[in-house]
Amino acid sequence: MIILRSSQEKTIIFHPKLLPTIAALEPKLTKDLPPLLTAATGIDAFTHCLEAFFAPGFHPLADGIALEGIRLVLKNLPLVVKDGSNLEARGQMMLAASMGAAAFQKGLGMIHSLAHPLSSVCNLHHGLANALVLPKSIDLIEGSNLNSEQKKRFNRVLSIFAELDLAQEKLSTSCELFFKKLGIKFGLKNHGVKKEQISLIAAKAFKDPCHQSNMIPVSEETFRLVLERAFT
Ligand SMILES: [Fe+2]
Repeated sequence: MIILRSSQEKTIIFHPKLLPTIAALEPKLTKDLPPLLTAATGIDAFTHCLEAFFAPGFHPLADGIALEGIRLVLKNLPLVVKDGSNLEARGQMMLAASMGAAAFQKGLGMIHSLAHPLSSVCNLHHGLANALVLPKSIDLIEGSNLNSEQKKRFNRVLSIFAELDLAQEKLSTSCELFFKKLGIKFGLKNHGVKKEQISLIAAKAFKDPCHQSNMIPVSEETFRLVLERAFT
C-alpha cells in the first residue's frame, strides 16, 4: 500500500490491485464522441507519449512505445475528428491512448502538472487543459539551454511530424498548428480561466508531482509564466 499526498493535501491511497487487469479497446464504444471531445482526449494521449519520451531516465521500452504512440495520434486523430464513424482510425487512437498510458510509467512532466489544477480549479476538461498549455510549455523547454541528448529527443519527435507533413520550424509551433486544425481554440481566458486564478493554479501545479520528471526543472514562477503566456 502506498500513501501519496496530492496537490490538494488530501491523502490518496494507491495499491497495484487498483490497476485494471484488462482493457477493452473497442472502437465502436467511442463512435458517438463529439469532435471536440475526440480531439481533447486524443491530445491527452499525445501528451502522455510526449511527456514520457521527454522524461529523464533510462527506459528504452517506454521511449519506443511513446514514439509510436505519437505517430499514431498524428496520423489518426485528424481522421477521427473529421469523421467520427471511421472505426479503423478510432481503433488506432485507442491503441495510441493505451500506449501513452503504458509509456508514462517512465514519467510525465510540467504540462500535466498544469492541467491538473486547471481541471480542479477551473473545471476544464483534462485533455483540453493539456492542449491549452502544451505549446507554451514546450516552447519554454525548447528555448532553454538543452544538452545534446535533450535536443536529439526534440528532433526525433519533430521528425515524426515531418514524416506526416506536419512539421513547422519548432516542435512547439508544430503542436500548436496541429491542435488548431483539430478545432482547439487557444487562450485560457476563452475557457473561463480568470487572470486572478493564475497564482493559485501555479502554486498547485508546483505541488503536483508530475513535473518532477519534466525534461528540465521548473519552479512555481515558471508555471506562472507559462499560464500568462497561454492566457490570451
Ligand atoms: Fe493525461
